[in-house]
Amino acid sequence: MAKIMFISLLMLSIVSLSVSQEQCTNSNQVRAGYWLSNSNHYSPLDSINTSLYTHLYYCSIAVDYNQATISIPSSEEVPFFMKFSSTLKSTNPSLKTLVSVFATTQFSSIASDTNRREKLILSTIQLARANGFDGVDLSWQFPSSSADMANLAELLTKWRSKIDEENQTSLPPLLLTATLYFSNHIFDMPDQNLDYPIDVLSYNLDWANILSFSFRKSTNVTIYDAPLYDMSSHYSASYGIISWLDAGLPPCKIVMGLPLFGRSWILRNKAKNELGSPIVAAGLKQKMSNHTGLMAYSEIANISKDSSVSVSYDNRSVAAYLFSSSTWVSFDSFEVVHEKVMFALQYRLLGYFVWPINFDDSDYSMSDQALQIWLKYRNSLIYEEGNIFGFGFGQTEAPSNSPPHSLNPSQASRLTHHNLLLFLLLFLFF
Ligand SMILES: *[C@@H]1O[C@H](CO)[C@@H](O)[C@H](O)[C@H]1NC(C)=O
Ligand SMILES: *[C@@H]1O[C@H](CO)[C@@H](O)[C@H](O)[C@H]1NC(C)=O
Ligand SMILES: *[C@@H]1O[C@H](CO)[C@@H](O)[C@H](O)[C@H]1NC(C)=O
Ligand SMILES: *[C@@H]1O[C@H](CO)[C@@H](O)[C@H](O)[C@H]1NC(C)=O
Ligand SMILES: *[C@@H]1O[C@H](CO)[C@@H](O)[C@H](O)[C@H]1NC(C)=O
Ligand SMILES: *[C@@H]1O[C@H](CO)[C@@H](O)[C@H](O)[C@H]1NC(C)=O
Repeated sequence: MAKIMFISLLMLSIVSLSVSQEQCTNSNQVRAGYWLSNSNHYSPLDSINTSLYTHLYYCSIAVDYNQATISIPSSEEVPFFMKFSSTLKSTNPSLKTLVSVFATTQFSSIASDTNRREKLILSTIQLARANGFDGVDLSWQFPSSSADMANLAELLTKWRSKIDEENQTSLPPLLLTATLYFSNHIFDMPDQNLDYPIDVLSYNLDWANILSFSFRKSTNVTIYDAPLYDMSSHYSASYGIISWLDAGLPPCKIVMGLPLFGRSWILRNKAKNELGSPIVAAGLKQKMSNHTGLMAYSEIANISKDSSVSVSYDNRSVAAYLFSSSTWVSFDSFEVVHEKVMFALQYRLLGYFVWPINFDDSDYSMSDQALQIWLKYRNSLIYEEGNIFGFGFGQTEAPSNSPPHSLNPSQASRLTHHNLLLFLLLFLFF
């Protein structure tokens, strides 16, 4: 009996292995961007250079937790929402549009209930179809218990089957994606068993957008917000992506995030302006990012034109910062984007997304930089031969001794569950 079970398990794993390889014929396909509806005036729909993207996300639609449906967009947003797809596709007919559903921790109450799950799924599908979207995205920030993870699996399985049985056969099936934490394991939560359900994600999602930035939310010294490498902790984009791969998510299901924003702080002493320097507060609120401690790439580019401003690129961490008087900003420069796109190619990921496109400069320089690197190297022999172009002290695999999940990897980090969520909430709804 045990033998038969063993053999069937073996066969099952061979089957699933070939499935995941088959899933990987489709790499190099996604160059996406999120468009923030509440920053619509900084990137009017008809000003977007749509040829820079393959997929654009409307970010975001909220959830009505009482009704277990999608919230109707506010009257101010309705016009953008309704014309999002048609306007963008008018200049790039092959562009695909998706609507991103933003879910808070309250989402547990929907994910855990069969009827409420179904209601939410149907309302999302209807809203997407009625407004010409090609897909839907779930951005649940973040599941916070093992039960949440199990319910996420149920939800996505159901979502996929609803899409499959959809009644509009004249159109291709809706795409289904999810916006997920930077690593497959969620750190710094009271529940330490927070691993995403990899097989379910892999089977039901077209792909996962990985939030490869803002790893650490609270600090009293200057830090990099989204370094590609960090040899002393798990807070890096490479660690996160490799953790997903190690856990079994196929590379062709992974789309890596590139932040078009920086994090800013006020230095305690403006003469002490290196990485790890003491800070006293979050940076002043800027017009575009409209939130303390954040700066849009466009605002960073504007500041860095000033000759008194010093910009540094750290080729070891693959990260950049600048300081101007007592303001210190960690951000992704052109070099950083170059290296991150090369990293995505090296690991044969499906693609990248920029977050959000509204924060790019008026020429969409960063979106263009990512695209040009991608196009230039995606078919190159150098890329086929693998790991010979990487700069930085490559974290070529996740550290075999991963820090314990509960470990706070830096004394400087004061991350708590609450300010993580608060930050993300504020960030999305500023
Ligand atoms: C849009 O981006 C493409 C790709 O870089 C470029 O060739 C084109 O000139 C841009 N269009 C506009 C209007 O800037
Ligand atoms: C398709 O139609 C059937 C019968 O009208 C309905 O029960 C089902 O919920 C519909 N599916 C979707 C995804 O709307
Ligand atoms: C900036 O954020 C505040 C809330 O903090 C909001 O009331 C205001 O409308 C926002 N401004 C812009 C231009 O989005
Ligand atoms: C650009 O920076 C200058 C100061 O260096 C500032 O006066 C100006 O308002 C900024 N422009 C924008 C669009 O942020
Ligand atoms: C990284 O920067 C250091 C210091 O500027 C330099 O010596 C080194 O050659 C650089 N490495 C690469 C791979 O660019
Ligand atoms: C940061 O602040 C906390 C208290 O708010 C303190 O315990 C910790 O030592 C500080 N860390 C550094 C590096 O200054």
